[in-house]
Amino acid sequence: MYVQKLRPRRMRISAGMRDMVREHSLSVKDFVYPIFVVPGEHVKEEIPSMPGCFHLSVDHAVEVAKELHALGIPAVEVFGLPEYKDEIGSGAWDMKSPVQRAMTAIKEAVPELMIVGDVCLCQYTSHGHCGKLCGHYVDNDETLQLLQKVAVSQARAGADIIAPSDMMDGRVAAIREALDAEKFQNVSIMSYAVKYASGYYGPFRDAADSAPQFGDRRQYQMDPANVQEALKEVDLDVAEGADIIMVKPALAYLDVVRRVREHIHHPVAVYNVSGEYAMVKAAAQNGWIDEKRIVLETLLGMKRAGADIIITYHAIEAAKWIKE
Ligand code: PBG
Ligand code: ZN
Repeated sequence: MYVQKLRPRRMRISAGMRDMVREHSLSVKDFVYPIFVVPGEHVKEEIPSMPGCFHLSVDHAVEVAKELHALGIPAVEVFGLPEYKDEIGSGAWDMKSPVQRAMTAIKEAVPELMIVGDVCLCQYTSHGHCGKLCGHYVDNDETLQLLQKVAVSQARAGADIIAPSDMMDGRVAAIREALDAEKFQNVSIMSYAVKYASGYYGPFRDAADSAPQFGDRRQYQMDPANVQEALKEVDLDVAEGADIIMVKPALAYLDVVRRVREHIHHPVAVYNVSGEYAMVKAAAQNGWIDEKRIVLETLLGMKRAGADIIITYHAIEAAKWIKE
């Protein structure tokens, strides 16, 4: 009988051995939880295509922030639906908008919880594009001036991290300059540096009422076929002063995450987006998958690909599962 001598299975023989040789792990400290704040009071309405996620008025957003902190999750990312929309999205820098009010209230209630502000205009513009229009073209440089206002208003409201998701060229430098001019030198920038034009944003656009009213976002978001271009975007955002670099979506782009991880020395974040979340939830609700296993395996895959930070709607349930 042939006796095999080389046995990788020796390292898998017991739970103790597997614990000892494990290479990667998930922690609640990896997570950022996104929330959607809406006008009004005492609002907590489930988002149909994102089961377990809610439209929250400011009072409920504060309750969720307390829960995140109690679970050890370090950060919340605040998205919002405004009271009004217009051509240039001026609700985005209105200190009375739900996002700014929520940031201030959360900072007061749970000062240790980090607040990430999504900086974009698509929730606030009547046409649903991420910037100021010139005909059907989203004007890059005029949009930068508006993004500067949004970033400063969020920093004033209490944001610790500004996360521009608009994909205009030069926005990181423009936002850095505006923040510094207002003495927000210690507010950092997490750039959605590599953001693809993706079908996986569908549920989010329903939730945030931010779908473009004509055309699509391919003029400014990246072509899913490209990876060299991703590294070019990363280089530019690093040069412009980004502190954290994000890749989005996560699951279909883990090769890009790995490339970015090996390309720079900055923390790398991934956004486990709404469509990725919705697919898992739908399958779980049908009893087709073991949700806990699938979620933890998926998030671990993002860590293994090189992510340091995972923005995920699964954060609360995953945090509880990790603690079990
Ligand atoms: C807005 C924005 C989007 C997401 C985050 N910020 C949608 C988009 O670009 O249309 C997507 C998040 C998700 O799908 O979970 N620029
Ligand atoms: Zn946008």
